[in-house]
Amino acid sequence: MINATMSGLNAKAREVIKLNEPDMSRPVTMMQAFAQRHSERAFAPEMLTDQDLSDLLWAADGINRPDGHRTAPSGMNAHDVDIYLLTAEGAYLFNPAEKCLTLVAEGDHRALIRGPQPDFPLPAVAFVMTTTPSRFNFPDAHLAEVMGNVDAGIISQNISLFCGGAGLANVPRVSMDYPGLAALLRLPAGTTPVINNCVGYPAR
Ligand SMILES: Cc1cc2nc3c(=O)[nH]c(=O)nc-3n(C[C@H](O)[C@H](O)[C@H](O)COP(=O)(O)O)c2cc1C
Repeated sequence: MINATMSGLNAKAREVIKLNEPDMSRPVTMMQAFAQRHSERAFAPEMLTDQDLSDLLWAADGINRPDGHRTAPSGMNAHDVDIYLLTAEGAYLFNPAEKCLTLVAEGDHRALIRGPQPDFPLPAVAFVMTTTPSRFNFPDAHLAEVMGNVDAGIISQNISLFCGGAGLANVPRVSMDYPGLAALLRLPAGTTPVINNCVGYPAR
């Protein structure tokens, strides 16, 4: 396993990238994060620092209690949402328990995030939230779908609030190439992308 502080996501795509512990001493207040939350669609090309990336992912859906519960609630505590990252180097899956990223596909596949917005600027990182409704093991398929969509939206908002507080450009989007992403990420039948957050440092 390679530590993010040693390699960085800026480096060549690696099989496993260990994330840093979250920095709990960030100075921005909760109210400032809300005040600064907004959608911004112009991104600098630089990759996020290892600490910004690690802190963002912890805020998004990291483990915040000893029993394994997360920063984001999930219906029936089913943890049906997975977070994938598309960067210039590869596509990765966030593993909250191991605090790491695992490589899913090498190469720059960020254009899949454009979907019906063909001119959308490529962000340093696109976070794609998928839901797997079967994890609810719930007989009402409609309600499972609703819970999955809500769970993904909550994680998206965690990302947006972190970005507001951290001064990162960010926009939540439902536009994306759904079949292209399902193929790239080798999503099993029934698992679908719900929403993405495009994130980077603001364009200068
Ligand atoms: C569910 C949802 C879907 C969205 N989809 C897109 C999208 O596909 N493309 C896009 O550019 N912005 C998208 N947005 C961003 C909205 O356009 C944006 O939040 C809205 O204009 C309000 O601006 P604000 O976020 O700065 O308050 C989406 C936002 C939400 C909540």
